[in-house]
Amino acid sequence: MLELAVALENPKYAHNVGGVLRACSVYGASKLRWSGHRVVPDNMRRLPREERMKAYRNVDFAPCGLPWMIDTIVDNRLDWSIVAVELVPTAEQLPDFEHPTINTCYVFGPEDGSISRGLRTMCDRFVMIPTAACMNLSAAVNVTLYDRYCKRRHLGLEPIRPTSEYV
Ligand SMILES: C[S@@+](CC[C@H](N)C(=O)[O-])C[C@H]1O[C@@H](n2cnc3c(N)ncnc32)[C@H](O)[C@@H]1O
Repeated sequence: MLELAVALENPKYAHNVGGVLRACSVYGASKLRWSGHRVVPDNMRRLPREERMKAYRNVDFAPCGLPWMIDTIVDNRLDWSIVAVELVPTAEQLPDFEHPTINTCYVFGPEDGSISRGLRTMCDRFVMIPTAACMNLSAAVNVTLYDRYCKRRHLGLEPIRPTSEYV
């Protein structure tokens, strides 16, 4: 089965990691990793209550170091595409972006910076969301995963469930 994962570089706020955890859960990303020491297991307890609820247990989430963050997600590098979501001049624009058809890990930078050069060298592709200014980290993750879902659904790669299943 195709795997989907999210990696955050040195996130600053636990509430953003909580929002990303929820995005991973609802869009079917099975792994979430983040680097740095600003959101650590101790203040994980301060994630918004709903992010600690049972419904989010379908996501394997953990803090870890750099550059091992990617290694804790990717088993065989050849089976994975690593996509940096960042405002860089050479990035493809999300509306035109064709999401990889193999296992994919989307990488995001911190609230007060951007993806480091070291981590960028591990990325295969770069995509930006054409917004007037930088988005909130968790919003950027949600938009990226929703875009992937919509495009895959359009290609018949995601099941179309009746609305009644969602409410
Ligand atoms: C809040 S932004 C970083 C802030 C920004 N570097 C600044 O200080 O102006 C956090 C992360 O969200 C992602 N992000 C936010 N808006 C984005 C956009 N429009 N396109 C691509 N990535 C975006 C990137 O991964 C970025 O590193």
